[in-house]
Amino acid sequence: MTVQTALRHACRLLEEGAIAVPRLTAEVLLCHALGRERPYLYGHPEEELSEAARAAFERYLQERLDGKPTQYITRRQEFYGREFLLTEDVLIPRPETEHVVETALAVAGDARHILDVGAGSGALAVTLSLELSRPVSASDISPAALAVAAENARRLGAEVRFFAGDVVEAVAARSLDLVVSNPPYVPLEEQAGLQREIRDWEPHVALFSGPEGLDMYRRLVAGATRVLRPGGWLVLELGFKTAGPVHEMLGAAWTQVRTTPDLAGFQRVLAARWRS
Ligand SMILES: C[S@@+](CC[C@H](N)C(=O)[O-])C[C@H]1O[C@@H](n2cnc3c(N)ncnc32)[C@H](O)[C@@H]1O
Repeated sequence: MTVQTALRHACRLLEEGAIAVPRLTAEVLLCHALGRERPYLYGHPEEELSEAARAAFERYLQERLDGKPTQYITRRQEFYGREFLLTEDVLIPRPETEHVVETALAVAGDARHILDVGAGSGALAVTLSLELSRPVSASDISPAALAVAAENARRLGAEVRFFAGDVVEAVAARSLDLVVSNPPYVPLEEQAGLQREIRDWEPHVALFSGPEGLDMYRRLVAGATRVLRPGGWLVLELGFKTAGPVHEMLGAAWTQVRTTPDLAGFQRVLAARWRS
């Protein structure tokens, strides 16, 4: 089997399995089996696959056909121009979360005490630390996720202090300049209707937060009022249709409240300033 025939065979199987973007998926999985980057495939269409590469490719294809997301097969995902390692213990970082980074960078100023709540792969904490060239703290309730985030910080050279904990529990009062979070926000009632790649593979602790997906927002807003210094910022990723309810959770002591849309036009990020 050559590179070209392997790709044709894979495309057909993936199309029959109703897998989205079959050609790209086939190329990414074949690259993973070969330990190469995509341009290699275009330059070597007639190359014969070794037995080991062929077996690995067949295995990856079967995993994808069984619903496993491509990123959990390749164990990596790019975020804000950097490659993050992944395991099934962490959410796959999404492109829309890059808007959280942009908003956080815009309000950070000379913020020294920054906390990312719900680190997951470390996408936000690691990126903010590297973009701002300063230490960042990050918490997660999942020790397994923290291990992945710590490995990403180490590989990418970011100075992040991780701690296991619930929301902002371990943080001293009035000590922070900036709290960022991409919290779990999928309503539990939508679980059955989710894509199987999400529902059956991504950690539920990273997805769901109460019947309407608002529980973690309530806890974050309450926690932020305790740990932010006056003038400190809260930056939150918003779920579909959560802009209104989250806005309503903020009392009069929050100022400069603003939301930013993502590329699809949904209000995706909320920023608010505590007692400025
Ligand atoms: C949507 S994921 C975000 C991961 C990462 N920040 C990103 O943007 O890709 C939410 C994260 O919050 C964590 N989490 C859930 N409940 C938590 C809680 N009560 N306290 C702290 N972290 C929590 C989950 O383990 C998960 O890693």
